[in-house]
Amino acid sequence: MAKKYTWCFLLVLMSIAIVAAHIGETAVPAVFIFGDSTMDVGTNNFLPVSQEIKADFYYNGIDYPFSEPTGRFSNGYNTADRIVKLLGYKKSPPSFFALLNDSPTFKRNILEGVNFASGGSGILNTTGLVYNNFMSLGEQINLFATVLGNITELCGPAAAATLLSKSLFIVSSGSNDILEQQRSRAPLSPDFLDNLQSTYADHLRSLYNLGARKFAIITIPPIGCCPVERSYNGSECLQGANEFARQFYNATETLLQQLSSQLSAMNYSIGNSFGLTLDIMGNPLAFGFKEIRKACCGDATTMCNQTASLCQNRDEYLFWDRFHPTQKTAVLAALTFFGGSHRFVKPVNFSTLAAINIV
Ligand SMILES: *[C@@H]1O[C@H](CO)[C@@H](O)[C@H](O)[C@H]1NC(C)=O
Ligand SMILES: *[C@@H]1O[C@H](CO)[C@@H](O)[C@H](O)[C@H]1NC(C)=O
Ligand SMILES: *[C@@H]1O[C@H](CO)[C@@H](O)[C@H](O)[C@H]1NC(C)=O
Ligand SMILES: *[C@@H]1O[C@H](CO)[C@@H](O)[C@H](O)[C@H]1NC(C)=O
Ligand SMILES: *[C@@H]1O[C@H](CO)[C@@H](O)[C@H](O)[C@H]1NC(C)=O
Ligand SMILES: *[C@@H]1O[C@H](CO)[C@@H](O)[C@H](O)[C@H]1NC(C)=O
Ligand SMILES: *[C@@H]1O[C@H](CO)[C@@H](O)[C@H](O)[C@H]1NC(C)=O
Repeated sequence: MAKKYTWCFLLVLMSIAIVAAHIGETAVPAVFIFGDSTMDVGTNNFLPVSQEIKADFYYNGIDYPFSEPTGRFSNGYNTADRIVKLLGYKKSPPSFFALLNDSPTFKRNILEGVNFASGGSGILNTTGLVYNNFMSLGEQINLFATVLGNITELCGPAAAATLLSKSLFIVSSGSNDILEQQRSRAPLSPDFLDNLQSTYADHLRSLYNLGARKFAIITIPPIGCCPVERSYNGSECLQGANEFARQFYNATETLLQQLSSQLSAMNYSIGNSFGLTLDIMGNPLAFGFKEIRKACCGDATTMCNQTASLCQNRDEYLFWDRFHPTQKTAVLAALTFFGGSHRFVKPVNFSTLAAINIV
C-alpha cells in the first residue's frame, strides 16, 4: 500500500467496517445517483439550461426545510432523497456540481457518494438538447468516471474498487426520451424501444466496467397519466405512452436478468414505478390521495412558479406540478422499493440489495 493513500484507505476501510458491523446508521458506504428530474437535487442550477427544466425557485421547495427552493422538482424532498434516507443518510448526496464548487471538501465528500441526475435528461444523448441540456445519462456516467479517477487518486485502485462494489447505484431514466419522441411526433415504436434498451444496456455496462455492482433501477411511471399528458385527452391518460412504459418495464426486467447472468457479481433490483403508480391511481384513498389527476402547483399547461396557483393540501396530491410527483408520492415510492414485497420490486428490494455482501 503506497503511503500517500493511507488516510483515505483507512477512511474507506473504516466506513466499510462500520457498515458491515452495523455500528453506523448507513446501509452502504456510498450512494451514486443517475437519471432525470425525479432524482435531480440541484444539478440544473449550475447549467445554462432553459427555465422549463429548472426548479430553483418558489413554490418548489415549499415543504423543504426553511421552504428553500433547491432545484428539486418537488414541494419537498424527492424520491432520491427518500430512498437514501432509508439507507440511513439525511438525504441524497449533493449534486456533482455543488460538490465541485466546494473544493476544500470535495475529496472527502465524494467518498459518501454523488448525485449526477439532471432534469430533462434521458437515456439517449439527444434527449434534453432542446432545453440546452447536455447531461444525458452517458454524460453523467462520464462525470462519474472522473469522480472515480479522483477517488482512485486519493485511495488507490484497490480501495476505490472495494468502495464502489459495496456502494448503491440508483438509476432512474427514460421518461424524457418518451416525452421528446412524442413531441417530435415520432412513433413509440418497437424500434424506438430497442434503441432505448440497447443504449440503456451500454450505459449499465459502462457503470459495471467502472466498478458498480449493486444497481437499483427505477423504471418509467405511466407517463401518459401525468397532468400535461392528460391535457391531450380530456384529462384521461394517454394510452400509447402508458403502453410504451409498460413495455419498457418488461424489457428492462429482461435486460437486467441478462446483464446479471453475463457480468459476474452484478446484483440488481428493479423498482416498478409503473405498477405502483397504476395501483395508487386505481385506489387513491387507500394511499391517502384525493387528487390524482391535477397538479398541485400550476396546471396541466403552466409551470410551477411563484405566480402559479397552489393547492391547499399538498399531501393529498399525487402530482406536484404537471410532470412531477409530490413529496408524499416520493415517500410512498421510496418505502415500496426499499422495504416492499415482490409485487413492485424484484428480485429483491433495495434494502436487501444494499445488504448483499459482494466480495
Ligand atoms: C453519447 O454520449 C456519451 C457521453 O458524452 C459518449 O461517450 C457516447 O459515445 C455518445 N454515444 C453516441 C451514440 O453518440
Ligand atoms: C478530479 O479528476 C479530474 C480528472 O482527472 C481532474 O481534472 C480534477 O482536478 C480532479 N479533482 C480534484 C478535486 O481532485
Ligand atoms: C383517452 O382516454 C380514453 C379513456 O381512458 C381511452 O379509451 C383512449 O384510448 C384515450 N386516448 C388516447 C389517445 O390515449
Ligand atoms: C409484460 O410481462 C408480463 C408478465 O411477464 C406479461 O403478462 C405482459 O403481457 C407483458 N406486457 C407486455 C406489454 O409485454
Ligand atoms: C447477486 O448476484 C449473484 C450473481 O451475480 C447471484 O448469484 C446472487 O443470488 C445475487 N444475490 C441476491 C441476494 O440476489
Ligand atoms: C411563471 O410562469 C408563467 C408561465 O407559465 C410565466 O408567465 C410567469 O411570468 C412566471 N412567473 C414568474 C414569477 O416567473
Ligand atoms: C424487503 O426488505 C425488508 C427489510 O426492510 C425485509 O425484511 C423483507 O424481507 C424484504 N422483502 C422481500 C420480499 O424481500
